[in-house]
Amino acid sequence: MPTVQRTQVGIVGAGPAGLVLSHLLHLHGIESIVLENRSRHYVEERVRAGVLEQNTVDLLNQMGVGDRLKREGLVHHGVELRFNGQGHRIDFRELTGGKGITIYAQAEVLKDLNNARIATGGQVLFEVEDVSVHEMNSSRPKIRYRKDGDECEVQCDFIAGCDGFHAICRPSIPAGVLTEYERAYPFGWLGILAEAPPSSDELIYAYHERGFALLSMRSPHISRLYIQCKPDEDINDWSDEQIWCELRTRLASASGWNLTEGPVQQKGVTGMRSFVVEPMQYGNLFLAGDSAHIVPPTGAKGLNLAITDVQILARGLEQYYAKGKRERLDHYSEICLRRVWKVQRFSWWMTSMLHRFPDDSPFDRRRQLAELDYVTSSRAAAKTLAENYVGLPLDDSLSGAGK
Ligand code: FAD
Ligand code: DHB
Repeated sequence: MPTVQRTQVGIVGAGPAGLVLSHLLHLHGIESIVLENRSRHYVEERVRAGVLEQNTVDLLNQMGVGDRLKREGLVHHGVELRFNGQGHRIDFRELTGGKGITIYAQAEVLKDLNNARIATGGQVLFEVEDVSVHEMNSSRPKIRYRKDGDECEVQCDFIAGCDGFHAICRPSIPAGVLTEYERAYPFGWLGILAEAPPSSDELIYAYHERGFALLSMRSPHISRLYIQCKPDEDINDWSDEQIWCELRTRLASASGWNLTEGPVQQKGVTGMRSFVVEPMQYGNLFLAGDSAHIVPPTGAKGLNLAITDVQILARGLEQYYAKGKRERLDHYSEICLRRVWKVQRFSWWMTSMLHRFPDDSPFDRRRQLAELDYVTSSRAAAKTLAENYVGLPLDDSLSGAGK
């Protein structure tokens, strides 16, 4: 017989979606258990996203996990688009009425959330094995797993599938329920983390004949840089010097700007895809974050979108436990998908504008340059980029649901 635990919400995955959900629920007096198959160390050291929208920062502050973020986060009020060797600034503050973004690594967000969960007695179980979900369509769904060789079962009212793209919750939904929408891109990103002071105060997105490049950062001492590469690029084929050389070429500027270099601490290749599953719920199982959708990284949206999903889910669960009403839960997928598709559109657009496609023609390249010229010279176009980049306002009204 398995060891049985009882909770209100069983959460699979201790990434940003799972941990934010668990802590938000705790703040509303709702119990949860989070099950994570990796170790805490692994999750907290994994190098991933670094750009937080204003909505995300505001939420983390409201949740009481924003102290270190306030101290160490780098607030930016613009980004640079660089093409034909010239930089063009998109001024977020001016174009969005004062909004900005904050540079703070996903791993640091997870450390802050784990500390908050532990300090408030939260149950986050790491290194669990063979997680499976059952009876999602009943009022008593169950999650089974093994921990240190023991069979365990969590009995709950709801399951949140926050287990990322290579997940178990989404594939557990019966065939025929979900529709998948997908686009693969014929390139990836090769990313490095380097011990080098960032060579710019703000992020630089560069369009170059040899492919896209991005200069980002994690702190005043650490740069995060990416170059467009083949989708199946073998990182071992790239020496550090080759990476720096490619970055210097693609980021070069006519103004004599120099790229600061330093020892490479970490490097890896990330694939690029757009993916959405509809609906994002089945019975009492709710999918959130990367388990329901993936965006290509060019708009820096993956982490932020995951957090908005669980904000919407938490409001539905709060309504259920406080008032016994399922209205918000029943519309969860519709409310999320309105935003998901807008963010998909923006991420696809940024990706299409800034990358070289293997089969592109001189016409395509001229069109991309014209689009960059337009975005950086028309206030209306720059405003469109800015308002999407800093994050669209959270619309969780029920009135537009289904539209
Ligand atoms: P995840 O962060 O993937 O969390 C899911 C959690 O579930 C993980 O901890 C995983 O270990 C756990 N899990 C998986 N399967 C199971 C199971 N069977 N049982 C229990 N637990 C399980 N976004 C950006 O905006 N900018 C970037 O630069 C960027 N870089 C990225 C680089 C990489 C290599 C990857 C993979 C993603 C990157 N992203 C980036 C995307 C961003 O990090 C994700 O959108 C974000 O992590 C989504 O959060 P999540 O909580 O939905 O999923
Ligand atoms: C970073 C990642 C992104 O995808 C992006 O668009 C901007 C910055 C980063 O890792 O810092």
